[in-house]
Amino acid sequence: MLPLLPQFDLALTDPPYGTGGWRRDATGAGSNPAAKLVREQWDDGALEWLRLCRGVPVLTFWPAAHMPALMGAAVACGYDKVRMLYMRKLDPKPQVGGRVSWAVEPIVALGNEGFQLYGGTDWCEASTPRLNRDADATGHPYQKPLQVMQWALDKTKAPAVVDPYMGSGTTGVAAVLAGRQFFGVEQERRYFDMACERIARAQAQGSLLVEVKAAAPQQTMLELP
Ligand SMILES: C[S@@+](CC[C@H](N)C(=O)[O-])C[C@H]1O[C@@H](n2cnc3c(N)ncnc32)[C@H](O)[C@@H]1O
Repeated sequence: MLPLLPQFDLALTDPPYGTGGWRRDATGAGSNPAAKLVREQWDDGALEWLRLCRGVPVLTFWPAAHMPALMGAAVACGYDKVRMLYMRKLDPKPQVGGRVSWAVEPIVALGNEGFQLYGGTDWCEASTPRLNRDADATGHPYQKPLQVMQWALDKTKAPAVVDPYMGSGTTGVAAVLAGRQFFGVEQERRYFDMACERIARAQAQGSLLVEVKAAAPQQTMLELP
């Protein structure tokens, strides 16, 4: 899909990291001992998408454990500036055996000469949206907090943003609320539909806030062989 898109100026994404993609396959999650863990088939940690980003600045969630692979791919793609941003989780899961809990998620910023991040600090605090607690929770197992995507996007002035792994569309909602153009790619039909609905709602909301009415969303589906 990425090679088919018109010009974009930033990739802001939360791709498959290759860390296992585990989630509990039942409601009740952690409190339900019967819920087994499921490995997402798509969580291969492949980095082909980076090459397809055409050298534009990238802000990507990426775990420390797989940082060498990302840095190797970044160098191969010609990126020579790196900054780290961090999402600090307000309610990280406790770990067994007194181990250190995973309370921050790194967001790697890649760019080239002239690339700049703007505004505030390099960290943002937020909670991952949860069903039965947060009104904006979609049920997507890896939905990122809107606040974090808005904060990350605000660090750049890119007019057109792509998310090659948009999931429930959080990056797209942040983009249209900020008046940026957005291109999103998602392989699962149910998440794609969820994202389109959220983005359309955000566009309607955005048109109440700004005088110029946002363009109507255009959705393109490609039939894969
Ligand atoms: C970590 S989730 C992104 C969640 C998103 N940030 C949100 O807030 O909802 C990654 C998404 O990438 C999708 N995905 C995985 N492999 C893909 C591929 N090759 N092409 C497009 N989407 C893919 C998965 O279906 C999943 O929804």
